[in-house]
Amino acid sequence: MIITIDGPAGSGKSTVAKAVAEKLGFEYLDTGAMFRAVTLAALRAGIDLHDQQALSDLLARVRMEFSPGQVVLDGEDVSQAIRADNVSKSSSPIAESPVVRQHLAERQRQLAAGRNIVCEGRDQGTVIFPHAEYKFFLVADPMERARRRHRQLSQMGEEISLEEILKTQQERDQRDSQRALAPLKPAPDALVIDTTNLTIDEVVARIVDVVQGRLP
Ligand code: DC
Repeated sequence: MIITIDGPAGSGKSTVAKAVAEKLGFEYLDTGAMFRAVTLAALRAGIDLHDQQALSDLLARVRMEFSPGQVVLDGEDVSQAIRADNVSKSSSPIAESPVVRQHLAERQRQLAAGRNIVCEGRDQGTVIFPHAEYKFFLVADPMERARRRHRQLSQMGEEISLEEILKTQQERDQRDSQRALAPLKPAPDALVIDTTNLTIDEVVARIVDVVQGRLP
């Protein structure tokens, strides 16, 4: 069974998706981490992030391994490095790249095939798994999302102002929702949950109740 959880950065979807997977005994796929891994690889290789041929060559060359909570790039654990702010900032051209989206779409479908899995990202319910059994789309007030990201970065020792985070987030939201390929939007059959005033536990309980048939 496939459950998709999509939404913008800071909507709580990563934490929620992990917890839902744990509660249901499902596996978990963080597709944002896959885009981040390609972004980091491209930054390290020093290639033009808009050059589709260079991106295609890069994808043929690098070895990326994805397991829950861990990303390994050419043998190195980059699970922390992919969360850095420069990777977030550079991820939009990678997310807009047809070459990268095609490559990662195939890997996402392979990783999920035949499994009970919670797949989290932007396009899981719309493009990658249009026939998923359950689809959720999380939203939250932009200021609350920026505060959550600020807390997360502080915990990682990165001190970036709330204003700066809010500005980057607005730009990224706009690019994510307006891009031609796999834009950020709820699937017509997704249940939209506003997490602004909900705790993580409340969102998780709501999703688990729906999947277990206690809520419509
Ligand atoms: O969720 P995140 O911040 O880790 O995502 C990183 C980048 O990847 C961000 O620019 C959105 C993009 N992304 C995407 O386009 N499609 C997905 N399914 C997941 C992430």
